[in-house]
Amino acid sequence: MENNRKVTLTYNDGKDNLEMPVLKGTLGPDVVDIRSFSKTGMFTFDPGFLATASCESQITFIDGDLGQLYYRGYPIEQLAEKSDYLEVCYLLLNGELPTAEERKVFERGIMRHNMLHDQLMSLFKGFRRDAHPMAVMVGVVGALSAFYHDSLDINNPEHRKISAHRLIAKLPNIAAQAYRYNKGLPFSYPKNGLTYAENFLHMMFSTPCEEYKVNKTLALALDRIFTLHADHEQNASTSTVRLAGSSGANPFACIAAGIACLWGPSHGGANEAVLKMLDEIGSVENVPAFMEGVKNKTHKLMGFGHRVYKNMDPRAAIMKETCDEVLNELGLHNDPKFKLAMALEKIALEDPYFIERKLYPNVDFYSGIVLSAIGIPVSMFTPIFALARTVGWISHWAEMIADPAMKIGRPRQLYTGAQRRDYIPQEQR
Ligand code: CMC
Repeated sequence: MENNRKVTLTYNDGKDNLEMPVLKGTLGPDVVDIRSFSKTGMFTFDPGFLATASCESQITFIDGDLGQLYYRGYPIEQLAEKSDYLEVCYLLLNGELPTAEERKVFERGIMRHNMLHDQLMSLFKGFRRDAHPMAVMVGVVGALSAFYHDSLDINNPEHRKISAHRLIAKLPNIAAQAYRYNKGLPFSYPKNGLTYAENFLHMMFSTPCEEYKVNKTLALALDRIFTLHADHEQNASTSTVRLAGSSGANPFACIAAGIACLWGPSHGGANEAVLKMLDEIGSVENVPAFMEGVKNKTHKLMGFGHRVYKNMDPRAAIMKETCDEVLNELGLHNDPKFKLAMALEKIALEDPYFIERKLYPNVDFYSGIVLSAIGIPVSMFTPIFALARTVGWISHWAEMIADPAMKIGRPRQLYTGAQRRDYIPQEQR
């Protein structure tokens, strides 16, 4: 929304001033609308998008200084305590919390789509057994577009809804089968009647030989991890999904692009990197030497720091509580790895290097510990992040497609390469 404020750009070479409107959101800082700037023949330069709002959105709000996160206006703390992942999915997709009837219909819709096309199973078998499950997920999710031609018309709202439901429903199954294929376990099937998180645990760990009993505390912890990871505004993977979608690419291809981006250790790969780091440090006596390396910039303290949060990540505060619950439930408080994590956290929170740079633990520091305690192998941490974030990605994609002002995303650049020069034949080089 435009307000009366304006920003005036003045040049020191006599060119006319340029007045640019200031836009006001419902929350958060004002935003200078620089669209008219392109007419000047110049561009703005903002690598890493530190000062750039790439779109208008009504889905998620973050206040990084205050450490606040809202989905559709609801604080994450309230959702983590009172809601559950499927309700959060409905909220993110539709903008409002569901009535009991809406919830029932939505849940049935997700459950009805959670099987995988039998032919898709052959695709898993094309991968090496030791492939990282994220590699399998990028491939298999992208391949969904080859199976569901009936929901690929991105201009049809009903198609967009069906694709969204298919993705939310099938991602846990795809992630679980990527794990089972790696392990040499037979593929498993979803079991309706279980909750979304219970079903995921069942698909991961059940065997044909005996009944798998889901531990309710662990399933609730997993559901909370899903809720906390469901969306996070215009992060790297969500921006990737939007950019891919802006060309009109189908939703399955766009989500595959999001998964690829999430894989990186600065983003969704951080939870896996936390556990690898704990293994490398080994024990509490090695923490001071490791910290020296962090301060000398030899390595980073994974699970710490965030581009937006310059205060405690609110998801980390909730995850820390869940971490305690899970370690208590499993009697793991004295496990050396978890003791090491807690020692590391304490030292970092008191160290001036971290205090001065406002580096706090982020959600991945604790979620890695919880997932590891639940018995999830480290290579599955990022796939779990991906399956939980799918609803956020698809909500942003749908919001963008439904916006009549949508344009293909096409940034410009500051070119610093060679000037025009003539081709030199090889024998003269
Ligand atoms: N360990 C040590 N130093 C750090 C860390 C860290 N984890 N994070 C940032 N710094 C330092 C950085 O070296 C820089 O120091 P200086 O001012 O002396 O040059 C300062 O803090 C500012 O960091 P930055 O790199 O400018 O911050 P950024 O906003 O570009 O990066 C980040 C954010 C998340 C990529 C980074 O903090 C990081 O790599 N953290 C570790 C990986 C991680 O845990 N990622 C998960 C993020 S939360 C989940 C998600 O949303 O994906």
